[in-house]
Amino acid sequence: MLRLTRRSLTLGLLVLACACKGESKGSGPAEEGGKKDRFVIGMSQCNLGEPWRVQMNADIAAAAKEHPEIEVIFKDAQNDTLKQRAHVEELVAAKVDVLFVSPKEAQPLTEPVGKAFDAGIPVIVLDRAVLGERFTTFIGADNKKIGRAAGEWIKKVLGGKGKVVELKGLMTSTPGQDRSAGFREAIAGSEIEIAFEADMKWLEPEARKEMDSALARLPKIDLVYAHNDPGAHGAYLAARAAGREKEMKFVGIDALPHEGVSYVAQGILDATFQYPTGGREAVETALRIRKGEKVPKTITLGSRRFTKDDVQKGGEIIE
Ligand code: FRU
Repeated sequence: MLRLTRRSLTLGLLVLACACKGESKGSGPAEEGGKKDRFVIGMSQCNLGEPWRVQMNADIAAAAKEHPEIEVIFKDAQNDTLKQRAHVEELVAAKVDVLFVSPKEAQPLTEPVGKAFDAGIPVIVLDRAVLGERFTTFIGADNKKIGRAAGEWIKKVLGGKGKVVELKGLMTSTPGQDRSAGFREAIAGSEIEIAFEADMKWLEPEARKEMDSALARLPKIDLVYAHNDPGAHGAYLAARAAGREKEMKFVGIDALPHEGVSYVAQGILDATFQYPTGGREAVETALRIRKGEKVPKTITLGSRRFTKDDVQKGGEIIE
C-alpha cells in the first residue's frame, strides 16, 4: 500500500518542480522517472536577451507541448560562449535523447557539438551554424539570400546610389557573415557606398552607440541596414535623439509580429525581412529522427519582406 508521508509528498513536489523548470539536475534526466516512452530534448540557447530568441524557445515549447512524451531542458548561456560550451557538455552528460543548439559563435561551439554527435546523440543546429559536418541537421533560413534581398530592395529605393550605414551582427556568427556578404553582392556595381560599418553584435544598445559615431562622422546618411531589428531600432533611436531620423531609411531583419513588423506598421522601420526561428521544425525533425527516419543535412526555411506597402497583407515572399 502506498503511504503518503509529509516527506514523500515534499520530495514528490520537488521532483515535479524540477521537471517543470526543465533544468537538469544530477546524473541523467533521460534515465530518471522510469517512463519508458519519455523523450528528452536538451536545448542550448545562446542568449535570451533578444525577443527573437525568446520566441524560438516559445516555439519549441509550444510544439513540444503537443507531444506529452517530450520533455525539454532549456539552457540559457546568457551570451557567454564558455557557458554555452559547458551547457552542451552538461546536456551530453545528462544523456538527452536529442540535442538542440543555437550557437553564439561558430568556431568555439564546433568541438563540443561535434563531440555530442560522435557520442551518438542526434544534434539539431538551429539558426547559427557550426563549422564542418559533425551534426545531424541544420535548420534555418538562408541568410545570404536574405542579405541579397535586402540589398536588392535597398538598391531600388535608393535609385542605385547613396550613403549607407551597415550595422552588422556578430561577425563570428554565420548569420552576420552571410547577411553582410549577400548584401554586398547585391549592391556591387551600383553607386551605393557603405560609408560606415560596425559590428553591433546583434545588440540594440551597441547599435545605438555605433550609430552615434556614424551620425557624428557623416553629415548625410541615406539608409541604415542593420542585420537585425533590435539593431535597426537602436539606430533609429540614435538618429531621433539627434533630430535626424527623417533624413534616412531604416532596414532590419527578423520581422517578429510584435517587433519588426510592428515597427514597419508604425513607420519606424522602412523594411524588415523575416527570419523564422525554426523552433517548431526542430521538434518535428527530432520526432522524425526518433522514428528512425533519415532527415536532410540542411532544412532551409523561407522568408518574407515587409514594407509599409505590404505589411497589412502579410508581406511578400522572397524568391
Ligand atoms: C537574436 C538574433 C536575431 C538574429 C539572430 C541571428 O539573438 O540576434 O535578432 O536574427 O540572432 O542569429
